[in-house]
Amino acid sequence: VSTTAGPNQNRPFLDWYLIPEAYSAPLVEQALARFAVPPGAVVLDPFAGSGTTPVTAALQGRAGLAVEVNPFLAFATRVKSTFTYDLAALRRDLEEVRRRAERAAANPNGALGEGPAMPRLTRWISPLVVRRVLAVRAEVEAVAHPAHRDLCRLALAAVLRPASNMRLSPHAFGSRVPREDAPVGEWFVQRLEKMERDIREHAGRPDLGRVTLLNRDARALAEVVHNFPPVDFAMTSPPYLNNLDYTMQTRLELFFLGFVRSMSELRALRRAMVVSDAKAMYRDVPDSARVRDVPGVQAVARALAERFRGRGWGWDYAFMATQYFGGMLRMLEGVFCWLRPGAHFVLVLGSSAHGGVLVPVPELVADLAERAGYRVEGIEVLRVRRSSSHGHRLAESALVLRRPL
Ligand SMILES: C[S@@+](CC[C@H](N)C(=O)[O-])C[C@H]1O[C@@H](n2cnc3c(N)ncnc32)[C@H](O)[C@@H]1O
Repeated sequence: VSTTAGPNQNRPFLDWYLIPEAYSAPLVEQALARFAVPPGAVVLDPFAGSGTTPVTAALQGRAGLAVEVNPFLAFATRVKSTFTYDLAALRRDLEEVRRRAERAAANPNGALGEGPAMPRLTRWISPLVVRRVLAVRAEVEAVAHPAHRDLCRLALAAVLRPASNMRLSPHAFGSRVPREDAPVGEWFVQRLEKMERDIREHAGRPDLGRVTLLNRDARALAEVVHNFPPVDFAMTSPPYLNNLDYTMQTRLELFFLGFVRSMSELRALRRAMVVSDAKAMYRDVPDSARVRDVPGVQAVARALAERFRGRGWGWDYAFMATQYFGGMLRMLEGVFCWLRPGAHFVLVLGSSAHGGVLVPVPELVADLAERAGYRVEGIEVLRVRRSSSHGHRLAESALVLRRPL
């Protein structure tokens, strides 16, 4: 089964909004079958991203429990897993907003106000496209029904990246040939039509599960577990230790939809994320201290420090690694408390390499999991990527854990 988001395209609800590093719904379906997760069971994803785990679980009749720190992604998952609407009212509202938005986007001349305070906005998206987006946004914000408005917001969010100059892939981002203009109105209308079709086709299905969303830091779960039912199965793909700023993937969405209004708000969000980027590290986040006595992690940190000693860059990769693994340990401990005894937890993890130093992430996380009390049932290689820069073969693996009975 593919690990990438490819198979989620053209699937109901799942394809409403995707991030490049989303994993595949079939991977989740396969795991639900393999671990015999029964209908109605609670399925947790502590790094839910665009919601592949909870949305797939709900479509398969399980209850989803999603933790995600990025407020826009938490919003996207909530909208993707809301299945019940008054269909007549929905049709009326969406028809109206589609008509108005298409007209407004075609002639974005009115007083629309400024674009968002996103740094270097016009590098990422052309001024004309910004005006078209703002024109659609004004129509979206005028929709009175909150759930209908949220559908429209997500449809607009899904149009932003294709309409921009941003080129994203699962492990990189950059800019492409600048796009002066884009059919924002038409794309918005098409998105919304697809969404309405999916809702209509699934209306009245009694077996669809409910999804509960927690917009919070997965390293601080112990404080909330007692408010929720025990978890029967957990599955996730954590951030990869690949030195990329994960907030870049949703930068346009965060700013245009108003989830983040300034750089200081963006920094606050980064602070609440597991460290995976040396450009976004905070000395006072105490995660490294948690892995001080873990020989495997310390050996990797020493190798990284040695490799980059005296260089102008990379000198802080050792700290990045210890912060990352400390954060993962905190998440593992929280999920452990939440799992029913005997329940499985599957993590899709990728190894990485920095300056030729291989970081065997699945093996190191398995070691941390044992320390947190799990039994390690296996590390199963899903695919192997060859890194262009140093020739290491980087495995992407499923780490299978179980809370002992
Ligand atoms: C690889 S993505 C998950 C993709 C997801 N499986 C999907 O299909 O969309 C990892 C996610 O972890 C989130 N994340 C990072 N640090 C977090 C934290 N401390 N608590 C909760 N979520 C976090 C990121 O915002 C990102 O969405």
